[in-house]
Amino acid sequence: MPPTRYQKFETGVLYKGDNLRRLIHFPDECVDLIYLDPPFFSNRNYEVIWGEEAEIRSFVDRWQGGIKHYTGWMKNRLAEMHRILKPTGSLYLHCDPSASHHLKVMLDGLFARGDGGFRSEIIWKRSSAHSDTKQGRRIHGHIHDVILFYTKGDEWTWNPIYTPYSQDYIESFYKHVEPGTGRRYRLSDLTGPGGASKGNPKYEVMGVTRYWRYSEERMKELIEEGRVVQKKPGAVPAYKRYLDEMPGVPLQDVWTDVAPLSARGAERLGYPTQKPETLLERIIESSSDPGQVVLDPFCGCGTTIAVAQQLGREWIGIDVSQKAVGIMKARVDGLGANAKVIGLPQSLSDLKKLGHYEFQNWVVDRVGGQRSVKKSRDMGIDGWSFFERLPIQVKQWSKKVGREEIDKFEIAVERSGKHRGYMVAFDFTKDAYEEAARSREVGKNAVVLVRVKDVLDFAELIEVAELEKEVLDLSDASADLMSLFSIATEEAREKKKKRKLEKQPVASKDELEESIRSPELVSS
Ligand SMILES: C[S@@+](CC[C@H](N)C(=O)[O-])C[C@H]1O[C@@H](n2cnc3c(N)ncnc32)[C@H](O)[C@@H]1O
Repeated sequence: MPPTRYQKFETGVLYKGDNLRRLIHFPDECVDLIYLDPPFFSNRNYEVIWGEEAEIRSFVDRWQGGIKHYTGWMKNRLAEMHRILKPTGSLYLHCDPSASHHLKVMLDGLFARGDGGFRSEIIWKRSSAHSDTKQGRRIHGHIHDVILFYTKGDEWTWNPIYTPYSQDYIESFYKHVEPGTGRRYRLSDLTGPGGASKGNPKYEVMGVTRYWRYSEERMKELIEEGRVVQKKPGAVPAYKRYLDEMPGVPLQDVWTDVAPLSARGAERLGYPTQKPETLLERIIESSSDPGQVVLDPFCGCGTTIAVAQQLGREWIGIDVSQKAVGIMKARVDGLGANAKVIGLPQSLSDLKKLGHYEFQNWVVDRVGGQRSVKKSRDMGIDGWSFFERLPIQVKQWSKKVGREEIDKFEIAVERSGKHRGYMVAFDFTKDAYEEAARSREVGKNAVVLVRVKDVLDFAELIEVAELEKEVLDLSDASADLMSLFSIATEEAREKKKKRKLEKQPVASKDELEESIRSPELVSS
């Protein structure tokens, strides 16, 4: 049975999930431009970007069986992309030279189905020199990516793009500088190629008779406009072509002028595969018009949709990583969008179905914490709270978490050198609550128990307040939840910064805790 297609095709949407599962539901011919930058085939370590279970699973699937498996994995997805492209639509596939030839053969097959097909292979020089030519390595430095450009039909959206002339070109061809204005120009031939046989008129200009390119009337106008120059008496007059009136060099297929993201560039969000906005600007501007629909099915940090948003295009982003979707949402919403997110866990039963790491990451991300990097000897610490960096342990058990786990976590908290830690689970036994209460009475290595339901509800409360731009109503929120979510930290951080500036001693732990706990700081 063919998959059901979405009845209502929406843009401004971010889908979290495997793109194939989403694409099969898109209606036929609904998208104008697709840019995809799938994880590359060349470097296994580089491949896993977010380190989440969904992504790791998708990565492992792709690798078992080598390039054949990779291209097979891509083929189903590309076939769907071809189906959903409008007849005038274009597709840009960003890949690296280790797989580009395989992908090209595959795309040739898919796009041969209509009047469409291969249009260009763009070489993007993404760095100047690379350390992969290090001593002993007997190959050339890999400094380029390949972007394959295909169109679905023989007519496609195309807006010419021009790049500036090089200084060498300007100096060789636009040698003359007009006195007074300083405008650079070159002298171009005014004679009519092919002479009489091509119907060019013959008459005299400045004492020189030739077949000319323009009618006598038009030539007079050009002379009056000061556009016709005779270098010396008897010389053939020439046309004065100003550099500042020329559009530039039509975009070629070797791009050396799009700089990679610099390590500290303002645009950088901290992920290794993030592409520069200028690269996407070029693709989106040339191959779509304002109002048209741009899709990125491997959206990562959301560069494509951020550029599409800024250029007035409609857009859709898909990524298998929950974290990527969160980053994308913040990025496009910061540009004035209000992205609808589809596919993030919305309920306790969704959360129970998540993979182990996905679930841990969901909790840590949801409370705004930092995921734990160490996986083996992390003493069961899955993350750290945002502000105070207190340990967080997450349990996805279907049964209630009991006293024994609380005792173990108390030791982990002690070893981490912190005074408090959070244990997040679906539910706890009565014993566990009693043990946690005891640990808090002692005041050292206290274990705070937080139910997943409360995290879900509280996160939603914050999100709604942010969306509606309202002050957060914290009347029912417990101090524990607020401190786990590092609420009120803005104010506390401001205080800390101020103190640092004034070179005064930083607030004591007790003071900070107090400021985090006091709700009045939040609503003020
Ligand atoms: C190379 S990155 C894209 C980077 C993006 N161009 C940018 O500028 O941020 C590839 C992305 O594909 C995502 N991905 C991997 N497998 C996927 C799948 N099956 N469905 C959707 N996204 C997937 C990864 O999570 C990752 O974010």
